[in-house]
Amino acid sequence: MSKHLQSSRITVPEIRARKGKERIACLTAYTTPIAQLLDPEVDVLLVGDTVGMVLHGMPTTVGVTLEMMILHGQAVMRGAIRALVVVDMPFGSYEGSREHAYISAARIMRETGCQAVKLETGAHIAPTVRFLAERGIPVMGHVGLLPQSVHADGGFKAKGRSAAERERILGDARAVAEAGAFAVVLEGIAPDLADEITASVQIPTIGIGASRNCDGQVLVIDDMLGLFDWTPKFARRYANLREQIAAAAAAFARDVRSGDFPGKAETYEFKSGSP
Ligand code: KIV
Repeated sequence: MSKHLQSSRITVPEIRARKGKERIACLTAYTTPIAQLLDPEVDVLLVGDTVGMVLHGMPTTVGVTLEMMILHGQAVMRGAIRALVVVDMPFGSYEGSREHAYISAARIMRETGCQAVKLETGAHIAPTVRFLAERGIPVMGHVGLLPQSVHADGGFKAKGRSAAERERILGDARAVAEAGAFAVVLEGIAPDLADEITASVQIPTIGIGASRNCDGQVLVIDDMLGLFDWTPKFARRYANLREQIAAAAAAFARDVRSGDFPGKAETYEFKSGSP
């Protein structure tokens, strides 16, 4: 058996078995150093396609490519030894057919070494979830507000306001769970709808702007660290790195301009093994 399989990494069956027992803490991660910092603390690291917005300055996640997800998935896997790593399937990589989804998902799993993929799902994607799950690809579902559908929806809007929409989202979550997903993200839906879904599916629900009663919660790391001037209402800021980074940059620039920065070769310490 390989060293990898013998490791103490949290597994897909372990996350699934947490349903109704132990809450699941999940954060997004996109780089090796951040993955190293988060890995001992959380259960799941999600390489979300939000990477396009938070790291690459894209206006939506629609422009994110499979190659970007693989590159960031590889970076996170280099920094994570304990948490379950889930990589998002980007827009256009899985919706066309089950076979296309399989080829994209297999590439992500093979080239990153991650443990699972996440798809933005509705009942119409459930056959694809089943197709992947039956072929050994663990799938995390995602229902409610689906950022990849931002253009069809006319913006990032909370979901489940009408009775018909509530019924549809409940049906989406059930269909994805029955198709074999091991967990499902509930994004941007009313707390009582999230609670109803959590009570009616057999897999863990992971909320983001949904309900405190979900089986777990996920936040975008940059929101949680306060890297933007704006934080979504549902997110909680645990740090204010934006101000700290700006202050550090200003202090550095001040030191350089005043000639106070010690840029001497003697102060440069080479680690053994450095070129
Ligand atoms: O892409 C992402 O970061 C996500 C989370 C917001 C759940 O899907």
